[in-house]
Amino acid sequence: MSEGRVPRSRFYDGRLYARTLDPLLSRLHQYVADQVEPTGRILDVGCGTGDLVWRLAPKADEVVGLELSPAMVDYANARRAEKSLSSVSFVLGDARRALAHLPDRHFDLATAVFVLHEMPAAAQAPVLSEVTRVARRLLCVDFRAPMPWNLAGIRNRFFEVTAGGEHFRSYREFQREGGLPGTAGRAGLVFEHVRYIDARTTEVGLIRRRADR
Ligand SMILES: C[S@@+](CC[C@H](N)C(=O)[O-])C[C@H]1O[C@@H](n2cnc3c(N)ncnc32)[C@H](O)[C@@H]1O
Repeated sequence: MSEGRVPRSRFYDGRLYARTLDPLLSRLHQYVADQVEPTGRILDVGCGTGDLVWRLAPKADEVVGLELSPAMVDYANARRAEKSLSSVSFVLGDARRALAHLPDRHFDLATAVFVLHEMPAAAQAPVLSEVTRVARRLLCVDFRAPMPWNLAGIRNRFFEVTAGGEHFRSYREFQREGGLPGTAGRAGLVFEHVRYIDARTTEVGLIRRRADR
């Protein structure tokens, strides 16, 4: 079994993230949900508080949110109980190994919003390989590389620096690896650019195995 990261929470995970970052990301989450055609099973990798999962729920028979942070999963499960949504579940674990028991193409689609850039460089390509094994296609949103030097780009750099040493190191390595297209290429996967958003500082793309359509 491949090595993975041990679940851990950061001080802002859960309620604080829901109050501060979810409102800033709500338009993006809705945009991602709007791209999805009605389907069977969807996996949201690094699902955070579940804000995107709720928006995907009407589009699928089943939506699974996978998260490394226990505080995020606790928060999402509390919201799930309030909403009584039986088609939604949350799993605590690392994307590199929590999916190992699932067969190939178990999910019709996976999504990952601002997840890859905060993983250590050594984990980024293996996570993409594993997620595109269990899902036919991965709709991914993450920082563009290189990050433009416009106002939004300077704001993004500021957030990444203030998020702390380990987080900033992962962001820099993700930039050095060429962002989503570079990391997908390193994993031997096909990358299809969809569009740039947020003053062209963020990239939306579809990632899949060569054999999948
Ligand atoms: C910046 S947050 C984005 C959360 C959510 N996707 C959103 O759009 O609000 C990145 C999330 O990815 C999770 N994460 C990072 N590495 C992970 C891994 N290896 N497996 C599962 N989740 C991971 C973190 O715990 C964090 O909650």
